[in-house]
Amino acid sequence: MKNARLSAFDMLYDIIYGGAYSNIVLEKGIKTVESKDKAFASRLVYGVVERRLSLDYAINKFLNGKTKPKVKILLYIGAYQVLYMDKIPDAVAVFETVSLCDNIGLSYYKKLINAVLHRIIDYKTEFDSIDDLSIKYSCPQHLINMWTKMYGRDNVADILESINNRPPVFAIPNSKYVDAEELHYELLSAEIDCEIFNDVVKINSSFDLSELKAFNDGLFYIEDYSSYSCANALGAKFDDVVLDLCSAPGGKAFTIAQSGATVYAYDIYEHRVELIKKSAQRLDLSNIITGINDALIYNANIPVADKIICDVPCSGFGIIRRKPEIRYKNLDDIKELPQIQYNILSTSSKYLKSGGVIIYSTCTLNKKENEQVVDRFLKDNKNFSLVKSKTVFPTKNGGDGFFYTILKKTND
Ligand SMILES: C[S@@+](CC[C@H](N)C(=O)[O-])C[C@H]1O[C@@H](n2cnc3c(N)ncnc32)[C@H](O)[C@@H]1O
Repeated sequence: MKNARLSAFDMLYDIIYGGAYSNIVLEKGIKTVESKDKAFASRLVYGVVERRLSLDYAINKFLNGKTKPKVKILLYIGAYQVLYMDKIPDAVAVFETVSLCDNIGLSYYKKLINAVLHRIIDYKTEFDSIDDLSIKYSCPQHLINMWTKMYGRDNVADILESINNRPPVFAIPNSKYVDAEELHYELLSAEIDCEIFNDVVKINSSFDLSELKAFNDGLFYIEDYSSYSCANALGAKFDDVVLDLCSAPGGKAFTIAQSGATVYAYDIYEHRVELIKKSAQRLDLSNIITGINDALIYNANIPVADKIICDVPCSGFGIIRRKPEIRYKNLDDIKELPQIQYNILSTSSKYLKSGGVIIYSTCTLNKKENEQVVDRFLKDNKNFSLVKSKTVFPTKNGGDGFFYTILKKTND
């Protein structure tokens, strides 16, 4: 087992300089940390990724010029503890961080790291009173500008408040076996700190739920509450044929399948289709039929459907608190997305029966990927009408940021 700070160092190096996703790195890396230190190591990793922009601001005030990537990571780890972890005494944070230098061949940099961290300690009060939103919330100014233009200042304040909070985890009861109350009881019996939240169970502890008997017996699956509400909004019924064209890892398909409808769940990646298959088996949802399919290309073998869900790939600005590095995306890198999303929606709509409904959804807060794609589709397809459109802003104890639109195909 590794020292928690050393493990955090290795994981942060892979995320910040290796371009790896924090949730994937953490899932693997946290296994090398002793149980009692897991929460601390995970907070350090997520915390540094979340607060990188703010940490850069503080560090650059006292660091003259660039430094080696590994030194920078150590400075991030030390500065994060000093600025954001009140329970760790400053002296311990500095001592433990500087001590890591010997483990990673950076003994030469001990003095520099020690000096910069002490300057940051002296700067803490001034830092805490910074009111520049970008530095305060560690969010690139271009993203704040985009949201302000699209959603207004009040909504942006709520979004910014949410992006550095640990998100709630929701256990969705598999109605084949349990309802929310019964699941709540099962989880409490397994000593999981949880509470009923509407018709699901909100988990308050950071326990690995996949180790639970209740999970392996198929009593529940994990899905964000906004995503769950979107799947329910489809209103699937027992004798419906439903297509879920961008389905992996399958959360919405599992929710829809509980209506008894026959759900065809497709994804473009084989390994992701396997994820749907495995969970559907665990949940005993034999009415889910999985397959590999590219939603961009019309496939004559796909059946005509009563209802369709088109949960397209997106920039993910609604789930920043789950994947904190998403905030640093360059807006230029996502500018092709609306065209892809439009093409997926157009192709998907061709499988819909007259009188049927299709949901277009994303987990992003970006009108170019949301309302504008739908507007363009409605303009080009006069046989579709808008039933409902909903943007959900993330809240501390509630679901993620999300967008969905329900469209109806008129009878020919
Ligand atoms: C937002 S995720 C879907 C989440 C899923 N609906 C759920 O509720 O669990 C988007 C999915 O679209 C898939 N995807 C991306 N491009 C695709 C394409 N051209 N055809 C089909 N699936 C695609 C991705 O692999 C990813 O699994």
